[in-house]
Amino acid sequence: MPIRSDGKRYFLEGNQTAYVLAVRDDKLVEHLYWGPKLPLDTDYPEADRNPSFAFENPQGLVPLEYPAWGGLRFSEPCLKVEFPDGCRDTRLVFEDAAILPHDEAGQPHLVIRLVDTAYPLRVELHYRLYEALDLIERWAIVSNAAAADPGGMAPEPGAIRLEQVFSACWNLPAGTPYCLTHLAGRWGGETQLRHDLLSEGKKVLESRRGATSHQANPWFALTPAGTAVGVDLAAAGTAVPPWPELGRPTGEEDGPVWFGALAWSGSWKIVVEATPYAQTQVLAGINDFDTVISLGPGEKFTTPACVAGYTEGGFGSMSRTLHRYQLQHVLPPAGARQVRPVLYNSWEATYFAVNEQQQMELAEKAARLGVELFVVDDGWFGRRQNDRAGLGDWYVNPEKFPRGLGPLIDHVHRLGMLFGLWVEPEMVNPDSDLYRRHPDWVLHVPGRPRTESRHQLVLNLARSEVRQFILDFLDRLLSENSIDFIKWDMNRHFSEPGWPDEPREHQREIWIRYVEGLYQVWDELRARHPKVLWESCSGGGGRVDLGILRRADQVWTSDNTDPFDRLFIQEGYSYAYSPKTMVCWLTDSPHWGNQRASSLRYRFHVAMTGTLGIGANLNHWSPAEMEEARALVAQYKAIRHLVQEGNLYRLISPRAGELAALEYVNEDASEAVLFVFLHSRKRLWPVPPIRLRGLSPERVYSLAVEEGRLHGPRRLSGRALMAWGLSLNLQGDFDSVMVHLKAE
Ligand code: DGJ
Repeated sequence: MPIRSDGKRYFLEGNQTAYVLAVRDDKLVEHLYWGPKLPLDTDYPEADRNPSFAFENPQGLVPLEYPAWGGLRFSEPCLKVEFPDGCRDTRLVFEDAAILPHDEAGQPHLVIRLVDTAYPLRVELHYRLYEALDLIERWAIVSNAAAADPGGMAPEPGAIRLEQVFSACWNLPAGTPYCLTHLAGRWGGETQLRHDLLSEGKKVLESRRGATSHQANPWFALTPAGTAVGVDLAAAGTAVPPWPELGRPTGEEDGPVWFGALAWSGSWKIVVEATPYAQTQVLAGINDFDTVISLGPGEKFTTPACVAGYTEGGFGSMSRTLHRYQLQHVLPPAGARQVRPVLYNSWEATYFAVNEQQQMELAEKAARLGVELFVVDDGWFGRRQNDRAGLGDWYVNPEKFPRGLGPLIDHVHRLGMLFGLWVEPEMVNPDSDLYRRHPDWVLHVPGRPRTESRHQLVLNLARSEVRQFILDFLDRLLSENSIDFIKWDMNRHFSEPGWPDEPREHQREIWIRYVEGLYQVWDELRARHPKVLWESCSGGGGRVDLGILRRADQVWTSDNTDPFDRLFIQEGYSYAYSPKTMVCWLTDSPHWGNQRASSLRYRFHVAMTGTLGIGANLNHWSPAEMEEARALVAQYKAIRHLVQEGNLYRLISPRAGELAALEYVNEDASEAVLFVFLHSRKRLWPVPPIRLRGLSPERVYSLAVEEGRLHGPRRLSGRALMAWGLSLNLQGDFDSVMVHLKAE
């Protein structure tokens, strides 16, 4: 049984790992263990460890599964409430538990029920175990268990105010310092890896922007402190207890990693706290900032899920597990196992100045390259000539498309491609008919300015009429036109998050109700139009998370398409998210953003390490470039199943020096593809042999590689490829090579 109990302790065992919690004699639910699976039950620790320090209470230091604020507890809580009588002290104790062999997702599931000792507050802790992946999804359901008030006296007598309600608290083995790996960034520079040594105190990763954000991503990984390269642990002083570090630093393919991610696309928060007692905990959930949920009698609130896992196989194993989890359990099932089409998007070619004739001509060129999906981006609707007007007016612009979209769509279909269209449903330009009709539909605070960003305001998706409007226009668009793909964009974050029409006690729920509204609309559209493929975009990678990936088949990674910058952005992305979801266009050279020049092949190779797209102006390409691109698209189609579905090995990080190498291997190791990138050849150093991973040592592989790139034979054993490696010829600046390996 993957989940079982010995009466006191609850064991959740995956193939390799175990997670153990216990009900103590004082009825607190204590976290006991999270690490490698052990042979005997007696191997796991027992409950009722009571650390004792002056100025503390032993109960206040117990690592709890779901700490609530109350008593002598000073570390970050999951739950902070105010009861109707003003009491703000919460005491949650164990009530009962249930083990379900198969829940609605077909997985083993543990429910722990907690109840407040004096008030009608109940909390259900849910644990869904993915045994084969060694992952646990956790969420909480908090309810006001008082009987609903029959008289309905205003305003909600007996409401419990939830001031903080996280999804989970993950406790790490105590007594040792950790390094936190996380993703930081900004527009044009998303998902940059950071390794921070943790000392006493909190490191808060968060978005207060209403959306996931480019600036931080709701994902974390914790490893032994020595992983923070270049940090002298002894010199770091107080971060280190007075004994040697427990465990070795973690690398790409070896060492322990505790990791997790939150399935939420609104404001979120991850608090990583190291206490003065060398305890480390990670709490994740909806951001409590400016958020209060008012739960009337009989009402409940379900948090988003937070998934977490443990591996001893380093960051590479962590990523492969997360990728597999996304393909098997997160992505919309309809398309999860289908390869993603090669797309062409005309945004950088024509920007807002789209018209029927010019898009038809681009489509013909794209089709010649082997493109499978042609996407018209911003500019096709309303009075949209630039970003100052038109958002919200979702009718086809009659000057640009006098015959509607039909003839273009038919043309694209006749060329053998799918047709895709860009929308930005959550936004409105003040210069639009929609805003003139419904100025009250946007987030705003009466009497305050409505701050614009990219000349637009945010529609309040917490309002039912706004959701209905979006549902209606998109449903109509998809019903009246044969559209195969929607790119759903979001180009600003929240300001003045007011909801004046809502009763005061619910107004601060807007942060949550907006996201729930977004999910509701998206889910309904998917149900009504099941064949459509969906891409999430937010000015690049501003909305990449496990919540949106339940609705979107893929996401736009970054507006920055410079291939060298992309190596870093894509590396960070791949730590947490599957390459299949990572849309990568190659665009023109020199790049519009930094004027860096690079070859067509290099740009292609970088984009081929995810879901390939082309975003260049094909009108500027020479016949020779078109021919080269056609061949590269064909090469991508031959290896994309490996990139999109295979196991990723990050052989050499672009951060490590002048080389980067990525390898993708299929499940039975019969096929692999290797990409090697040289940033710059320095001081005539020869490029070292690239050692592969994940192959079958006993098998012989034949190699397909461009002429003149390989030193040595085109036929090698898996053992030789992994022990000695491949000697490749790379020269100059921004050179690249792709090798396709097939077992004989
Ligand atoms: C931002 C997106 O990231 C771009 O790809 C493009 O769709 C523009 N918006 C259009 O306004």
